[in-house]
Amino acid sequence: MPLSSKADSQQQATRAEDKRVVNGRGDINQLAPFRYPWAWECFLSANRNHWTPLEISMSDDVHDYQQRLTETERHVFENVLAYLTTSDILAMRNIGLAVMEKMTAPELQIYQARQVYEEALHTWTYQHCIETLGLDQQEIYNRYRVVPEIHAKIALANKRLERILAPGLDLTNRDTLHEFALAYLFFAAVFEGCWFYNGFTPVFALQRRGLMKATAQQFQYIMRDEVLHCGFGIRVIRQLLEEENLQLDPRAVQEIWEEADAAETAYAGYILREPILGYSADLHCAQFRHIANRRAGQLGMPGPFPGAENVLPWLDEQANLRKEKNFFETRVTEYQAGGALDWN
Ligand SMILES: [Fe+2]
Ligand SMILES: [Fe+2]
Repeated sequence: MPLSSKADSQQQATRAEDKRVVNGRGDINQLAPFRYPWAWECFLSANRNHWTPLEISMSDDVHDYQQRLTETERHVFENVLAYLTTSDILAMRNIGLAVMEKMTAPELQIYQARQVYEEALHTWTYQHCIETLGLDQQEIYNRYRVVPEIHAKIALANKRLERILAPGLDLTNRDTLHEFALAYLFFAAVFEGCWFYNGFTPVFALQRRGLMKATAQQFQYIMRDEVLHCGFGIRVIRQLLEEENLQLDPRAVQEIWEEADAAETAYAGYILREPILGYSADLHCAQFRHIANRRAGQLGMPGPFPGAENVLPWLDEQANLRKEKNFFETRVTEYQAGGALDWN
């Protein structure tokens, strides 16, 4: 190659420092040099956690659901499922349609592409549970429309999503960028980091009493993915704020937490209108506030609910699926514990 054209091609090559979370000038089709090697590591970790819902036998749960659950427990179980399945579709649309297209570094988009797939996999998992347990699909999928306390959470998320869904949103505009960062914070820290993380808990409470163990195992695999989604999202937000020299309005952030808390309190009041053995609406709400403080800390922000206590210390254990767990032995040994969970 003549010297001049070699110099030209080097000049045009993407440099790591040209990459940015948004508003970057680098070549979006060129993976390396990495500016965000942690994003690539997340992608590798996510791929080490591959699983499908068909790998867990649901037969004991069919018996539990029909013969062992009380009416109150069935109410809790079905509504948790109804909320989660609608939520995961929303999560997929958020990351795939609103967030990913605005990223200007391919290593960020590649992890998010994996995340889109995982959200679809989670929807498949709920569908598998709904189908094998013989629940009325039409009724379960429509439930978020008819139960105001479930609908309110979905509506809150939809409101954030709709504000950033438009393609070609001008993120060089500071107000628009601020709106985008708030929406991303909501989805990563609240929607995934709290509402999902804490959303499986009522079913884990059943699992701890030997009930609905297969569904709970399915949820543990989902939760593991969600821990990484939340950790990745929070890291992207921190990077974005630093690169763009953007300070989020603390009142706007506190409002997000308070809206989320109000919606979660109403939701818990509905799904746990009567407590089940070992679990109640009060415990659910207290744990939400504790996890919210943790997410805020990960964002480098003050906790929105001072004094909130860890009332369910066993919940974090559910996120740390270990190979010595006595189920699904051959596959679980292939799973990587540790690295993928450090975000928690
Ligand atoms: Fe998900
Ligand atoms: Fe997620």
